[in-house]
Amino acid sequence: MSDTGSPSAPAAPSPGCPAHAGAVRLAGLEYRQTPARLYRDLRREHGAVAPVLLDGDIPAWLVLGYSELCYVTGHDELFARDSRRWNQWPAIGPDWPLLPYVGHQPSVLFAEGDEHRRRSGVITQALDGVDQFELARECRRIAGQLITSFAGSGRAELMGAYAHVLPARAVLWMCGMPQGGPDTRRLVDDLRISLDAAEGDDPVAAYARVGERIRQLVKEKRERPGADVTSRMVLHPAGLDDEEIVQDLISVIAAAQQPTANWICNTLRLLLTDERFAVDVSGGRLSVGEALNEVLWLDTPTQNFIGRWAVRDTQLGGRLIRAGDCVVLGLAAANTDPQIWPEAHVGAENSAHLSFSNGEHRCPYPAPLLADVMARTAVETLLERLPDLVLAVEPEELTWRPSVWMRGLTSLPVLFTPVVQ
Ligand code: HEM
Repeated sequence: MSDTGSPSAPAAPSPGCPAHAGAVRLAGLEYRQTPARLYRDLRREHGAVAPVLLDGDIPAWLVLGYSELCYVTGHDELFARDSRRWNQWPAIGPDWPLLPYVGHQPSVLFAEGDEHRRRSGVITQALDGVDQFELARECRRIAGQLITSFAGSGRAELMGAYAHVLPARAVLWMCGMPQGGPDTRRLVDDLRISLDAAEGDDPVAAYARVGERIRQLVKEKRERPGADVTSRMVLHPAGLDDEEIVQDLISVIAAAQQPTANWICNTLRLLLTDERFAVDVSGGRLSVGEALNEVLWLDTPTQNFIGRWAVRDTQLGGRLIRAGDCVVLGLAAANTDPQIWPEAHVGAENSAHLSFSNGEHRCPYPAPLLADVMARTAVETLLERLPDLVLAVEPEELTWRPSVWMRGLTSLPVLFTPVVQ
């Protein structure tokens, strides 16, 4: 799945490196359920750039400051994406848990410079061709089918039965997968398993099946192109070969599915638990659009993202960052940085949050708009169809997934008046 070695990787700092004295272990922090407080404490103790330890006590830097994060993501010549320059590879074993996110893959995600512009340009144009009205119509259709499957029972677990499935099916529709067929259903299942394996799942086998099906899709679209993202990538004058398209399509699908699912679920949680929205969920005082935006500021799906690797020794937030050091993007921390919210109140009036990151590798331009169409349609359709939706448990009983990387609920159980079709 990944290529981790590089002949030019600098040596690992010796254990007990003074730059990482007092470093914070990220694994374990996930059990702290209020990230805003966690990031405030880290910032108070360490400033805008904190020394942290990843799983297995591997040292890295966590960027907590808004302007420092803009600086890192805006300066590719200093903080770049190719993880093969990491100075910690000698300490990383083959079963290190973060390897799937950090191990180099020949995709847009790890490409740099002209090669990144070529790959990213193809994705941007292919996504730009998606008609947002058609996407909304398709999302309403998928939402309708999913709601119908549980509407008669008067109860549902929305994370598994709705928020997770809808963006997966919508993204596969955008990519030109035939809708409703058993192989699309299988692909949706395999995506879930490879991105978010449950007990007893085999994520490696599922990931291999995703690769195979996408490879077949690219072949089909070469033979019979249509009006979809895959065909636009195949026909693009940049002339990507099939393997490049497969890698980048998998990146698009994976990058789209999980954060959009969590955006939907975190927004539903806010609507169902916060009295500012609770006059009546379908006719609350604040709109669905405001809830979606507030979630991006305060409960953003991608909390922390690995990352960037320092190209040479440099300074950041008063820290000496060594060539080859790993820098984790603290997107959630940056959104609540007191430097941009001096009144200690985080507003959600605009969209200057960093939830889609910034700079050359940011979430490519049309993607946030498409995510917005999917999330807004998912939330609105549900509230229209089941207007008396309420939580089936007390708000304090909802639990966040134990992850410092993604912010999402383990489940969202709800009750409503059964709808007889
Ligand atoms: C709520 C929804 C979403 C969130 C919060 C989100 C967030 C992000 C973040 C934080 C990155 C990493 C940027 C970096 O390295 O600086 C990213 C990259 C990316 N996203 Fe999104 N994303 C979302 C939805 C989508 C959707 C719907 C698509 C496609 C249809 C998409 C496609 C991509 C791609 C292809 C990249 C890689 C860009 C690159 O490395 O050049 N994302 N996204």
